[in-house]
Amino acid sequence: MSKVIAIANQKGGVGKTTTTINLSACLAILEKKILVIDLDPQSNTTYGLGITKNDIKVSIYDVLLNEIDAKTAILETPTPNLYLLPSTIDLVGAEVELATTTQRHLHLRKVIDQVKDDFDFVFIDCLPSLGILTLNALSASDTVLIPIQCEIFALDGLSKLKNTIKLVKQNFNPKLTIEGIILSMYDKRLRLANMVVEQVRDMVKDHVYNTIIHRNSKIGEAPSVQQPVIIYDAGSKGARNFLNLANEFMKRQSRKPEPIV
Ligand SMILES: Nc1ncnc2c1ncn2[C@@H]1O[C@H](COP(=O)(O)OP(=O)(O)OP(=O)(O)O)[C@@H](O)[C@H]1O
Ligand SMILES: [Mg+2]
Repeated sequence: MSKVIAIANQKGGVGKTTTTINLSACLAILEKKILVIDLDPQSNTTYGLGITKNDIKVSIYDVLLNEIDAKTAILETPTPNLYLLPSTIDLVGAEVELATTTQRHLHLRKVIDQVKDDFDFVFIDCLPSLGILTLNALSASDTVLIPIQCEIFALDGLSKLKNTIKLVKQNFNPKLTIEGIILSMYDKRLRLANMVVEQVRDMVKDHVYNTIIHRNSKIGEAPSVQQPVIIYDAGSKGARNFLNLANEFMKRQSRKPEPIV
């Protein structure tokens, strides 16, 4: 059975795209069949997974708003088992255009329903906002995966995001739960980073993964050559972190979903 997971945090630059690219790639290497949906007009996930503008004939914008068959938009990426529904800058207009449609929160769910059975996991990389595109992602998902940056103000916005998840659960998607919280960009030399780890573990307990993603230069460089870090430098600390995260993610699949607190 396939599972749909939104990777979301309305705070910008916390590692949503990095998590989407690298967790997906590591799961693909563990022989899971993965679809990534890039729901951000910045298209960083699309680029980082090895797809350039010229490869894209049909984008997520076209399938969301022009009712084009989602299967025609899905591209194979250079990583085996990893597929992409790409985004382009056209998606910038989607927030406003979706707002005028009926059942404006359900467009993405209809798209995913056409294709999800072909995959083990579908990941949606959300943009840094809680607008209609993110509402579509949360309405279409089984769970939400939340990256948090190990820096000052890390917890700012987490309660707002949880509140949004609760509202979506109550109004649009009763099955929605939290997949987990990932601590990202950790630098052990910073006392503050250690304090954030403790605070987050205290506050969200079991939701948080034991695996922490460290700040690592290879993770930062890999998108510039359009590769996940596990392909770019398999021996790097960043690659090991994401492979450990993928293994922990798989182990947690047999657990009961965590309640939203
Ligand atoms: N563990 C890491 N080590 C080094 N650099 C990182 C790490 N995680 C993310 N980065 C870098 O930090 C920047 C922000 O990360 P990313 O794009 O994943 O965040 P985001 O939450 O998707 O941002 P946005 O909200 O704009 O979509 C990127 O340049 C990325 O390469
Ligand atoms: Mg992003």
